[in-house]
Amino acid sequence: MAHDQIKKPRVLSGIQPSGNLTIGNYLGALKQWVAVQQEYDCFYCVVDLHAITMPQDPAELRQKTRESAAMYIAAGIDPDVSTIFVQSQIPAHSELAWMLTCMAPLGWLQRMTQFKDKSAKQAQESIGTGLLNYPSLMAADILLYHAELVPVGDDQRQHLEFTRDLAQRFNHLYGETFTLPSVMTPKAGARVMGLDNPTAKMSKSEDSDNHAIFLLDELPRARKKIMRAVTDSRREIRFSSDPERAGINNLLTIYQAISGDSREAIEAAFAGKGYGDLKRAVADCVLGTLEPLQTRYHQLMNEAGYLDAVLRGGREKAAAIAEDTLKLAQERVGFLAAT
Ligand code: TYM
Repeated sequence: MAHDQIKKPRVLSGIQPSGNLTIGNYLGALKQWVAVQQEYDCFYCVVDLHAITMPQDPAELRQKTRESAAMYIAAGIDPDVSTIFVQSQIPAHSELAWMLTCMAPLGWLQRMTQFKDKSAKQAQESIGTGLLNYPSLMAADILLYHAELVPVGDDQRQHLEFTRDLAQRFNHLYGETFTLPSVMTPKAGARVMGLDNPTAKMSKSEDSDNHAIFLLDELPRARKKIMRAVTDSRREIRFSSDPERAGINNLLTIYQAISGDSREAIEAAFAGKGYGDLKRAVADCVLGTLEPLQTRYHQLMNEAGYLDAVLRGGREKAAAIAEDTLKLAQERVGFLAAT
C-alpha cells in the first residue's frame, strides 16, 4: 500500500462556543490539536449542542460559533489537513446521543464532577436535564468518528472514561460497534487556573475581571491581568502542589506550557528572581502566543466567504462518516430501516 493510502488513526475533539476562548482552552486543547494534526486524521467540532445545556442568547451563540471556528484556524488548525465543523449541523450527533442516553445509567451521570459543580450553582428546579445528559452527547461526538484519541484538558478526563464505559456497554449488548477512545492531555497546561483565584479552574464563563486571559484580549490588557495575578507572600519561585502556592505554580505552568522548557530549567532560570520578574516573563510569552493568533483571526474574519466554505466542506466530510456509524448503530439496536 502506498504511504498516503495508509489510514491514519482518528482524533476528535471540540470546544463549546459558550463564551470567548481562553488561554486555558488554548493550552489544554487547541495547542494539542495542532500538534497531532499531521499524524492523525483530525475532526474538530464547535459543540453548540453542548453550549445550550446552559442558557444562551441565540444571536450570540451563532456569532460565537463562527468565532470559535475561526479561532481553531487562527490557532494553527489547517482546514486542508483537519476537518472543522459545527456539531448541530450534523443530526447524527443528536440521534446517537439519544440512543446512548437510553443506555447511560443515571448513577454514572450523577457522579460526573462537572455535573455536580454546575448543578450546585443552580436551584434544583432550574437545572436542565441536558446538563445531566451532556456526557452522552460527548460520547456520541467521539464514537461517531471511531476516534482513537481525544486531546482535551484535565477536566474532561472523567467524561472520556464515561465514553469508554458506555461504548463498552453498547458493544457488549449489541456486538462490536464502537472504538474505545483514549484520552490525551498535555504535560503542562492541562488545568490552567484562574488568575484571580488560582484554586479554581480558569473558565470562559466566569465573569470576574481578572479571572481569565481571553485569546482576543487586547495585549496590554492581557499583560495587566498577568501582572495582577494572585500569588503569595513568599519569595521562592518553584513548582508546588501546595494550595497556598497555587498562584505561583499556575504562572510557572503557563510558562512551561508555552516555552516547552523543563521544570528544572525554569526553576534554575528564576532562582533568586522576584515575582515581578516571573510575571513579566509569563506576560511576554503569553503575548508572544496571542499576537500572531489575533492577527490571523482578524484576517480570517475579514475574508468574506472563507469561513463558511471551510465549515461547509467540514460538514460534508464529517457527515458522511457520522451517518455511516449512526446507520450501523441503528441497525444493531433494531430500528427498521426506511425503504
Ligand atoms: P470546554 O468547552 O469546557 O473546553 C474546551 C477544551 O478546553 C479545555 N479546557 C482547559 N484546559 C486547561 N485549563 C483550563 N482552565 C481549561 N478550560 C477548558 C477542556 O478540557 C476542553 O478540552 N465537553 C467539552 C467539549 C466537548 C468535547 C467533545 C471534547 C464536547 N464533545 C468530544 C472532546 C471530545 C467541553 O465542555 O469543553
